[in-house]
Amino acid sequence: MANIRSSYTGGVNFFGGNDPLELIRQYGSPLYVYNEEMLRRRSGEMRDLVKLPSFKACYSAKANANPHLLRIVRSEGLLVDSMSLGELLMTRAAGFESDEILFVCNNVSAEEFKQAQASSRVVSVDSLSQLELFGKNVPAGSRVMVRVNPGIGAGHHKKVVTAGKETKFGVNVEDLPRAVELCEKYKLQLFGINQHIGSLFMEPDKFLAAAARLLEIVEPFKELEIIDFGGGYGIPYHKYENEARLDLADLGQRFAAMLEEFTAKTGYRGRFVIEPGRYVPAESGVLLGSVTAVKNNGPVRFVCTDVGFNILPRPMLYDSFHDVEIYRQGNPAPDSRTMPQTLVGNICESGDILARDRELPEVQEGDVLGFLDAGAYCFAMSSNYNQRVRPAEILIDRAGKVKLIRRREVPEDLIAMVTPLD
Ligand code: LLP
Repeated sequence: MANIRSSYTGGVNFFGGNDPLELIRQYGSPLYVYNEEMLRRRSGEMRDLVKLPSFKACYSAKANANPHLLRIVRSEGLLVDSMSLGELLMTRAAGFESDEILFVCNNVSAEEFKQAQASSRVVSVDSLSQLELFGKNVPAGSRVMVRVNPGIGAGHHKKVVTAGKETKFGVNVEDLPRAVELCEKYKLQLFGINQHIGSLFMEPDKFLAAAARLLEIVEPFKELEIIDFGGGYGIPYHKYENEARLDLADLGQRFAAMLEEFTAKTGYRGRFVIEPGRYVPAESGVLLGSVTAVKNNGPVRFVCTDVGFNILPRPMLYDSFHDVEIYRQGNPAPDSRTMPQTLVGNICESGDILARDRELPEVQEGDVLGFLDAGAYCFAMSSNYNQRVRPAEILIDRAGKVKLIRRREVPEDLIAMVTPLD
């Protein structure tokens, strides 16, 4: 399909021969569109990152928990990490068995611990007091993983760096002996040690440094079944600037060498686990939205859309960049002339900005926009702010066939949970 700006999705046949404008007509706007082929490819890349039988990739469902997508990820041979009872429900609905689920949570209640213990392979606790709470509420002999804070953090924004002095996560390394005592006190099996240093790195060095640190930390602990290095693998969001991909071959080789050396040195017989979230579904999602108005306020050209920050929260939360495509009725030829335009949504806050001063071909009312790389942390973080309904999600299979995988909400859904007025 030739259109104003669509060479990326055209190049990867993202829409499988379907016209984005037609998809919007059929399923409503905005609309989340996922591509099965892309999801399988990225799942496979994580599954095969390290070619050792002891290595296992465990998809972090927080990035996108639609069970239709989870089922595909499972069929590619990944385990799953859930962090709430809602995610457990979704992962179980997708067919993950309890021994394929790691429950890696943060600050949960006794009730959550009980349910998670009963329906996952192992629960990870994130502090000594959570370890006590877990021990008091689950049967003796239960497995537990303890999340450490290795003191090294990384990430695309300070809000998503999850290790180091300034974060709430993990047990300090000095406190690990106390964790062992608590495991003994409550007769828990210390099944694993895990970490997650933060989200989105494009260079492997910090991840590998933190992995090496974790291997030092775990060395004194005999009989661990899992050593879990967490996630954080980044994707290139700047598609139209040909941003380089994370070099998985280099990362995989260096990581494998490190793991092999550790195994040879210690005789470790358990599993090495990673928890990629974003990498698996991010590029398999495009969010389509419609341009409802175009206007100039002072020097700024505003392109006004039906994609509020309730639908696509990442730009507002982290100043994140999502590349944008433009599709227009009549299938006109691509346009390479650009001008700065500010893309906004329909929420009553001035911060409702999707892209500021973005150089794009002139957008017109009625155009459909495609926000790329919207498969991770987009629908998953959407809300009903301003009492707006959340969009439908559709999946395009390898043959180009479209399947509705979540219906669009209707206003009645919004009032359904409100108790009757007296
Ligand atoms: N494991 C744990 C314990 C985590 O907390 C996370 C992400 C992951 C694995 C997966 O990390 P990933 O591979 O996706 O980087 N909403 C933010 C990202 C928050 C990540 C939170 N934890 C964003 O949109 O950039």
